[in-house]
Amino acid sequence: MPLVTSREMFKQAYGKYAIGAFNVNNMEVIQGIVEAAKEEHSPLILQVSAGARKYAKHIYLLKLVQAAVEDTGLPICLHLDHGEDYEICKTCIDGGFTSVMIDGSKHPFEENVALTKKVVEYAHAHAVTVEAELGRLAGVEDAVKVNTADATYTIPEQAAEFVQRTGCDSLAIAIGTSHGAYKFKGEPQLDFVRLEKIAHLIPGFPLVLHGASSVLSEFVDKCNQYGGKIESARGVPEDMLRKAGTLGVCKINIDTDLRLAMTSVIREYLSLSPEAFDPRQFLGPAREAIKSMVKHKMKNVLNCSNQLTYL
Ligand code: G3H
Ligand code: 13P
Ligand code: ZN
Repeated sequence: MPLVTSREMFKQAYGKYAIGAFNVNNMEVIQGIVEAAKEEHSPLILQVSAGARKYAKHIYLLKLVQAAVEDTGLPICLHLDHGEDYEICKTCIDGGFTSVMIDGSKHPFEENVALTKKVVEYAHAHAVTVEAELGRLAGVEDAVKVNTADATYTIPEQAAEFVQRTGCDSLAIAIGTSHGAYKFKGEPQLDFVRLEKIAHLIPGFPLVLHGASSVLSEFVDKCNQYGGKIESARGVPEDMLRKAGTLGVCKINIDTDLRLAMTSVIREYLSLSPEAFDPRQFLGPAREAIKSMVKHKMKNVLNCSNQLTYL
């Protein structure tokens, strides 16, 4: 089984469930996620940010994901997360990725259209799928912090025009989610009316939610109990994500929840075993923590367990 694009995954998922797109940076994270997907018989997207490419190098992440495919036999989509320009998308397309995101959301509408179109032309000529973004999420991505005041929700009519003009394969929309561990100051709210309007104007078209971690207090508390000082607020409630998965959201991005799960276990281990210095002693349990978090998401949030029946 080679790496696959997101096309068939989204076609199968639309309106029924969502596929988890999990950010990966190293071997333990990749292994924890794919072991979960294998046990859950779930479709899977592994995504790599510019920061992850810089940290681990493109070639290492590519080979690790290829090894995961060979080891598990799972159809995995390897996706570039938040590609900021044409060049990084082209490098990832040429370098074996099966899906890329061109994130032109910081640009004015016409510039975003032109940039996305250019990436779509190159990607489709190489059988790679393209996610674009319209509207701006608040929160922290890499070194870029978008203030709540600068965040803008996706305008449904613009989304329809954008998809029609660019030919992109999926669209990330802004309806109230945000990146990182600090999402909602007060009651969490997602604009479902807006989501339904967008889905109504582009029927059957796969939508994507970024910033979809739930920031489960159990993990933040454990980090902070063992010396962490994580500033957090409520994340996206899991029932809202389940609902989004029935309304045209086919891809749900999760990074922060994996980071918290991993860090909480490492902090606990090092704090309770100060004599330890073999990294396997804490990276092993960290890999297990990733696996159990991903299994939980697949079963209880994404509803994508046992969905590999179309193969
Ligand atoms: O949306 C961004 C992802 O959480 C990746 O984060 O850019 O720090 O790797 P990163
Ligand atoms: P979280 O920070 O909510 O996990 O979002 C991750 C994301 O959107 C990656 O693109
Ligand atoms: Zn994102």
